[in-house]
Amino acid sequence: MDTKLRTLMETKFRDAYGLKDYRIYFAPGRVNLIGEHTDYNGGHVFPCAISFGTYALVADRNDDMIRISSLNFEEDGVIRVPIRDLNIERPDMWTKYPLGVFRTFKEKGYDIQHGFDILIYGDIPNGAGLSSSASLEVLIGTIIKDSFELSDVSMVDVALFGQYAENNYCGCNCGIMDQFASAMGRENHAILLDTNELVYEYVPLAFENEKIVITNSKVKHNLADGGYNKARNSAEAALAELQKEVDIKTLGDLTEAEFESYSYAIENDDNYFSAKHAVYENRRVLKAVEALRANNFEELGKLMYASHMSLRDDYQVSCEEIDLLVDLAHEVEGVWGSRITGGGFGGCTVSIVKNEAIDTFIDYVGEEYKRETGIEAEFYVVEAAQGAGRIE
Ligand code: GLA
Repeated sequence: MDTKLRTLMETKFRDAYGLKDYRIYFAPGRVNLIGEHTDYNGGHVFPCAISFGTYALVADRNDDMIRISSLNFEEDGVIRVPIRDLNIERPDMWTKYPLGVFRTFKEKGYDIQHGFDILIYGDIPNGAGLSSSASLEVLIGTIIKDSFELSDVSMVDVALFGQYAENNYCGCNCGIMDQFASAMGRENHAILLDTNELVYEYVPLAFENEKIVITNSKVKHNLADGGYNKARNSAEAALAELQKEVDIKTLGDLTEAEFESYSYAIENDDNYFSAKHAVYENRRVLKAVEALRANNFEELGKLMYASHMSLRDDYQVSCEEIDLLVDLAHEVEGVWGSRITGGGFGGCTVSIVKNEAIDTFIDYVGEEYKRETGIEAEFYVVEAAQGAGRIE
């Protein structure tokens, strides 16, 4: 943790809660390299945690009160909620994420024996598709697990509880990818995760000559607005139609050829294209991991572009600004591949760029994007980071 941030958080913590000892926790955001909208379609994903994330300074209390505040929403002040009555009264407020996780632990039968004073700060741009909300959920789960020494709650459980909170109290019917990456990330590795079985494998991201560059379109997305849930419903409707013809649990169970041979069962065109994306994207993840293991960046890049086109045309979760960023990236020599990352409808792209091309990439894409949209994009060169934990 940066010393300047540490000093600032300590000052703010003491202003809000008085002079007391605290512990520090961190949970990262994530970038998904490939495998988008597959995590609830029974398929594979390939994310890694990044060094941006959410920090908390935490002190135990002797009573039943949770006091929580965030430097990102200072105007909201300190929110006080008693544990015995964990009402998430304001669904429009950021506190639904942490309070939703407290409530989830209670619902799962864990006794929250005392309250906390918590100060939050996150450096992930909100709504950029880099999982600011999942990192906040995993952060709170990590605090609860650590504070009450819940050895029967694994970090995978922390991820699952975060997803449960998001699904039940925060209005987004998301899959497990974001919380999983935040809880289980490993330095210099991406996670090949089978979301059906929660079986996972760490794959080294040992790039010698290239880096992961995230480009923030600055077009905000809010998945709870409906687009995400709508896309999900469409894929699920197609699955239900396919299941009348073939014995599958998820769309990820089908190969491309099997899908094509049964696709007559799907009547509605939108549903057909949603299912097509899920089936093909799932296979692309496995091919991409194979390419990466063979150091075949050309193939990896091709799969990333194909993933983007499928999300744009078939799954329809992209937007003009993001498509422009991907097209511009394609024009730069030394860019292997580029695609939208995260839930969609704005947010960020992820690109694999050769080291020597990074400056040109940032200048060219930044300038052309500004010229066409008037928006100043942001670029983050990132490395795969460790998952959530107590840092002090
Ligand atoms: C959001 C969700 C994830 C996943 C992605 C799309 O980030 O939280 O569960 O579905 O969108 O891949």
